[in-house]
Amino acid sequence: MLNTRQMKMILNMPKAENHIHIEGSIPWELALELGQKNHVPLPADTTEGIREWVQSILKKDGLNGFMLCDRTINSVCLHEEDYEAVVMALAKNAASQNVIYQELHLDYPLNEERGIPMEVVMEGYRSAQKKAKALYGVEIVYIAGLDRTLSSEQCVRFVRSLEKYRDMVDGLGMDCEEKGHPCIKHKESYALAKDMGLFLTAHAGEDDGAYNIWDAIRELKVTRIDHGCRCLDDAVLMKYLKDNEILCAMCPTSNLWTGAAGSYEEHPAVDMMRAGIPISISSDDPPYMVDLVQEYALALEKMHFTEDELIQTARNAFLYSIKGQKYLPVFDQWASGFIDNKCNKSH
Ligand code: ADE
Ligand code: ZN
Repeated sequence: MLNTRQMKMILNMPKAENHIHIEGSIPWELALELGQKNHVPLPADTTEGIREWVQSILKKDGLNGFMLCDRTINSVCLHEEDYEAVVMALAKNAASQNVIYQELHLDYPLNEERGIPMEVVMEGYRSAQKKAKALYGVEIVYIAGLDRTLSSEQCVRFVRSLEKYRDMVDGLGMDCEEKGHPCIKHKESYALAKDMGLFLTAHAGEDDGAYNIWDAIRELKVTRIDHGCRCLDDAVLMKYLKDNEILCAMCPTSNLWTGAAGSYEEHPAVDMMRAGIPISISSDDPPYMVDLVQEYALALEKMHFTEDELIQTARNAFLYSIKGQKYLPVFDQWASGFIDNKCNKSH
């Protein structure tokens, strides 16, 4: 159990989050409301019922099952105001945890497959990006997410269509099931995104091996890896991640749900950080899992992080972010106040 001082430390710390998917983060109460408004049935009509449904599917099908849940819950969004409402709910939640900077993956292809025009989704997200800063003081940076299971042509089309939204989208990512969908398939999309000046990241080493992390680095030229759990199998890769300061944006609770890690105690994050690899901690899809404050608490309680290591990990989320380095002085001021306070109390 964490003591009150540690809980306060986590809550008061100004935080950044590098890895969270909008479509996987729709609060279930809001999903039920939107489902009712838009006449889209969900598998249950209470949040408890949804939890039971989700748990039964995740238990059976891991990451594949998760993608099914993700698609089903996201299908309640139909109109621009629905998309805006979802991101506003995320921003409000962020503010309540003192998260001041958030990098959100927007997986438009999950909406495209239901025939929702890109403008509807993007204008909703654009409007929320502005309002979130004004209303909650939360800066949102969008990373457009490719569904790696789709064809190369479809993904290239999506990347081209981002040209119109360069003022609101700063990065390109890639998610969904790794197995059977090698990085090389999306080389053209990433080359195009690089030419457009987008920051490049990809999910790798989550449900497939270290080779896929290498492929993301060598073939797609990413400068960040989402998850990266399997790098521990390859000492040369670990040294490469360290020497080149490639952030692994890790999501411990998500890794437990999808089977990428066996338990909090065995989660690779702390070993990776002690090997010098920059890591940060995020919540991935919080309604299915836990929020960022809880992730940080679990890092201290179960994952063997010391307080100093957690502070360094939290700092990495700003340092290796796309646009959040400007918040480092705020973070450092909080950290030095926290450390002074701790020293004074121990004298
Ligand atoms: N999309 C949303 N969450 C994901 C995860 N954990 N892995 C792959 N794709 C995802
Ligand atoms: Zn993810």
